[in-house]
Amino acid sequence: METTLCIIKPDAVKNGFEDQINKKITSSGLEILKSKKISLTEEIAMNFYNEHSSKPFYNELVEFITSGEVIVQVLQGENAIKSYRALMGSTNPEEAEEGTLRKLFAESLSRNAVHGSDSQESAMREIAIMEDIFR
Ligand code: RTP
Ligand code: MG
Repeated sequence: METTLCIIKPDAVKNGFEDQINKKITSSGLEILKSKKISLTEEIAMNFYNEHSSKPFYNELVEFITSGEVIVQVLQGENAIKSYRALMGSTNPEEAEEGTLRKLFAESLSRNAVHGSDSQESAMREIAIMEDIFR
């Protein structure tokens, strides 16, 4: 069994897609182990997106993820990391496959509805960063 970190981003929370997204997640065979609605601090967001700190879109990324409530979740299942990434679809919703979360629910490249860990290393790191918020 594997675990991965999911964030339902501010655009999807504002648009009221939480239940539809979680229905797709559980229907795909993943279990939602933990879930919490929260506003992320700038400190957590900057640490969380550290790998993108040199990219031109970093400030926009941190601003957006702290712009409203998000739902932080730990998902568990067989090959959870890859299978949840497949369910999410491409980063840019215009390129996302039919039926994927980003095709269905994302507004744009920067407001793309969901986050998912991209490797085992990222999943462990991201779950550790969010550990405190589930207490
Ligand atoms: P995520 O981390 O949110 O699950 O997305 P991802 O792995 O598919 O994409 P990643 O490369 O990690 O990028 C993180 C987020 O940055 C925004 N982005 N903007 N303006 C741009 O060129 C650009 N490129 C990426 C996206 O919102 C992406 O989800
Ligand atoms: Mg990523």
